[in-house]
Amino acid sequence: MRVVVIGATGHVGTYLIPRLVEEGHDVVAVSRSQREPYQPHGAWSKVTKVTIDRTAEEAAGTFGQRIRDLKPDVVIDMICFTLESAKHLVEALQGHVQHFLHCGTIWVHGPSVVVPTTEEQPRRPFGEYGIQKAAIEAYLLDKARREGFPASIFHPGHIVGPGWVPLNPAGHFNPEVFVRLARGEELALPNFGLETVHHIHADDIAQICQKIMANRSSALGESFHVVSPNAITLRGYAEAVAGWFGQEAKLRFLPWEEWRNTVSEQEAQATWDHIAHSPNCSIAKAQRLLNFQPRYSSLQAVYEALQWLIVNKKIEI
Ligand SMILES: NC(=O)c1ccc[n+]([C@@H]2O[C@H](COP(=O)([O-])OP(=O)(O)OC[C@H]3O[C@@H](n4cnc5c(N)ncnc54)[C@H](OP(=O)(O)O)[C@@H]3O)[C@@H](O)[C@H]2O)c1
Repeated sequence: MRVVVIGATGHVGTYLIPRLVEEGHDVVAVSRSQREPYQPHGAWSKVTKVTIDRTAEEAAGTFGQRIRDLKPDVVIDMICFTLESAKHLVEALQGHVQHFLHCGTIWVHGPSVVVPTTEEQPRRPFGEYGIQKAAIEAYLLDKARREGFPASIFHPGHIVGPGWVPLNPAGHFNPEVFVRLARGEELALPNFGLETVHHIHADDIAQICQKIMANRSSALGESFHVVSPNAITLRGYAEAVAGWFGQEAKLRFLPWEEWRNTVSEQEAQATWDHIAHSPNCSIAKAQRLLNFQPRYSSLQAVYEALQWLIVNKKIEI
């Protein structure tokens, strides 16, 4: 099949494009051509690369037509962030694609209620990003179920892989947190350290895209979480990282209002975003309907990403 991937050279595309090529698809990779995938792979030589700036083309009203002109059987949209953007593309592709896969986020859920959170739970998103992604999901599901637009949605957790800094045990992205734990230095965590994060290896997101395509009739008009089998607490995560370096985690726990003053404003904001969600999502639906089998636990995924940071001297232990 001819598969057009919009936003093809990022975290997920790095794994997804080689998997699609190996499956025998005719792959078209759309991006602005400003960056390369995180890892080279021979499969990229078999891909048609198309340079399109979505933002500029949407402003001109031409983006949907550009994608339609690529004559896709399947479109995988990795970079849709507003309802307006989703509507523009769907209107252009209605009746012209066999399957449309949209990348959402587990932040379509607000704070967790009954955990693990299932796809069926009512959406209570907060923050512009989650609110827009939830609106896109509601729109696509309605289009699929009422009008037969062939949409399926996958909602990743925090994406991890070699090549970039994973969400750390303090709930932000400063790699210094890993260094402190590896050296056996004290680390302060907010509250009791019992709020959760839910990672997913980028390759497992690539896997679910293949499974959604392979199980089209089960996946049409459906959303799927794509996360590791289990969420982890900040405390447990910190203890595991310290243990990888033969250390016992020296943790100190501070109430949020005190803790936030121990980090930069940007780090505090990132942590707040993550722990206010404290995701803990179920993958039972994807396992049941798609036979999704994540290769990585959260800690395995982070371990691999951390090894990459060390070997490539991005952090020094
Ligand atoms: N990061 C996370 O932890 C996380 C968690 C949950 C959900 N998600 C979702 O994951 C999706 C992002 O996937 P990703 O992390 O694989 O992507 P990514 O690493 O951010 O890469 C973005 C891709 O899109 C291209 N791109 C960016 N702006 C573009 C534009 N205006 N026009 C055309 N191409 C453009 C980039 O290449 P160029 O720069 O060369 O154009 C690149 O190929 C989003 O929908 C996000 O909501 C992410």
